[in-house]
Amino acid sequence: MRAIPAAPVRYAWLALIVALPAQAELPAGPGMAETERLCQGCHDISQSVSLRQDRNGWSATLMKMVGFGVKASDEELGVLVEYLTKHYPAGELPPLDVNAARAIQLESRLSLKRSEAAAILRHRDEHGPFKSLKDLLAVPGIDTGKIESKQDRLVFRISSGS
Ligand code: HEC
Repeated sequence: MRAIPAAPVRYAWLALIVALPAQAELPAGPGMAETERLCQGCHDISQSVSLRQDRNGWSATLMKMVGFGVKASDEELGVLVEYLTKHYPAGELPPLDVNAARAIQLESRLSLKRSEAAAILRHRDEHGPFKSLKDLLAVPGIDTGKIESKQDRLVFRISSGS
């Protein structure tokens, strides 16, 4: 029979994997403590900061969370809205991984037509992941200018798995 590691050893790894990204995620500054205290429990803190939006957008999200049962004073909500607007502002989406993107993301992030996004996905399915911008621009039937103008917002990750 194979030896099975004792439970504490196995779960120690799990705790590490779960704890690290959550900690690394929140930038330091006024409001970080409140965000940590009030914005997890119902869902992961990474979901709390998954949006990029302006002050109005964050206020609306906070009101929605209050509706779901978040107990925060007006003062705390004020601190939260400042923190979230400062660190997760509109228009600063993380770069799009062309090799994992879905059609809707290609359309919205690159202002492509539905048919262009479909052509990219078809090409990816048939030929495998894109290695570089050059590969992507070679897809027939796409507006290369639109893609080139946003090239600094794109990454081409190749997963070692599949
Ligand atoms: C009392 C429970 C609760 C707490 C605490 C909570 N949320 Fe939520 N949150 C929810 C629920 C319920 C959803 C909807 C989940 C879903 O649709 O999967 C949600 C979803 C979200 C979403 C996804 C987008 C959306 O609008 O649905 C964001 C962003 C979010 N919460 C931000 C926050 C922030 C910021 C805080 C800290 C103030 C927070 N949440 C604290 C219950 C909570």
